[in-house]
Amino acid sequence: MWSCPLCARPCTRCAAEVGTVATILGARPQFVKAAVVSRALRTADLREVLIHTGQHYDDALSQVFFDELGLPAPDHHLGIGSGPHGAQTGRMLEQIEAVLQAAPPDVVLVYGDTNSTLAGALAAVKLHLPVAHVEAGLRSFNRRMPEEVNRVLTDHASDLLFAPTDTAVENLRREGLPEARLHQVGDVMLDAAQHFGARAEAHSTVLERHGLTPGTYVLTTVHRAENTEDPNRLRALFAGLGALAQEHPVVCPLHPRTRHALTREGLLEAAEAALTVLPPVGYLDMVRLERGARLIATDSGGVQKEAFFHGVPCLTLRDETEWTELVGAGWNRLCPPSDAHRLPEVAAAHLHAPRHPIAPYGDGTAADQIAQILTKVSREP
Ligand code: UD1
Ligand code: UDP
Repeated sequence: MWSCPLCARPCTRCAAEVGTVATILGARPQFVKAAVVSRALRTADLREVLIHTGQHYDDALSQVFFDELGLPAPDHHLGIGSGPHGAQTGRMLEQIEAVLQAAPPDVVLVYGDTNSTLAGALAAVKLHLPVAHVEAGLRSFNRRMPEEVNRVLTDHASDLLFAPTDTAVENLRREGLPEARLHQVGDVMLDAAQHFGARAEAHSTVLERHGLTPGTYVLTTVHRAENTEDPNRLRALFAGLGALAQEHPVVCPLHPRTRHALTREGLLEAAEAALTVLPPVGYLDMVRLERGARLIATDSGGVQKEAFFHGVPCLTLRDETEWTELVGAGWNRLCPPSDAHRLPEVAAAHLHAPRHPIAPYGDGTAADQIAQILTKVSREP
């Protein structure tokens, strides 16, 4: 039940004076990002309506984040589930539109680059509701990635572009987006890493449960469509990780998409024999795994940055990355699947390469800055 921040009761009288933000989320990284922003919105006395599309529905990809990170239960759960891009995005669009139409908020807030992001932005812009995009301006310049299409379209439909870095702002400027829409606030994932880092150290027992010694193992995650749906890339990546596991224990919390792909290609048994394969883990366990790793090898956008936040070198298992500043400063190095047979040698070289101190992601106050800007916007006529 909504409690009015003005009179501390559920009421309709004050409702008109309190800004309402409708947050659209649906996939794992969005729960992490929204956890810190949602907290800041509550502190700023904004009313938030959470709309969960149901894109991710397994407890390990969804409910665990609500339980651990203090995210309020969704006000609307659309239960969309998995499917081809068009069908999944279309079903989301239809249902988000109905929810927004029934009770139009002052602003619609979307995160990142998933199908849930695009559906939320499209539904809102067609109802003439202001759209705010957190993590605006990221580009891989690879239009074959579903995420690239989602983020470009979302940025161009948005009224408020919350960019995490200088590079993101430059990308938006280059595409002609008006200066008045750009707000460089830093990266909300840094806020989350700072906010939950100590809690992960204090509460997670993941290292003890799996007999892992800090500083000795490699942590890996693989889930990108380009790596899982192409059997050659999938095979090359897991062969490379298997070779790396001859030198260091390799821990792999496995996304269900990747589990399905490995099963389909007959590679799961070999992966389980070579690596410590885990089900997807909750955020606190993931942060502890990251902080204890000697090296991280991933195709995840979020995990690349978290490696840097926790001071761990990272190999990105892709042809390109959106987070180019980390490559420039030596924290990250690309190791595409075509090079995966050289993973042990690339990992050894990267561990000894120089790394320069940089601070491209702000100062951990991105969520508060977003809440302040949304408060101002929601009070404008
Ligand atoms: C989605 C996002 C991706 C993001 C990732 C975060 C898009 C296009 N992709 O990719 O940008 O990095 O989330 O993890 O939005 N599945 C389950 N259980 C679930 C959810 C999915 O088993 O709870 C399986 C289904 O077989 C499904 C497959 O995973 O078909 C892919 O799920 P989907 O949400 O389409 O894409 P992700 O790969 O998770
Ligand atoms: N994550 C997690 N458990 C896992 C894998 C990832 O909690 O088993 C967290 C990770 O710490 C980061 C976010 O999920 O905060 C990244 O999500 P993902 O890699 O699925 O998506 P991407 O960032 O690539 O869009």
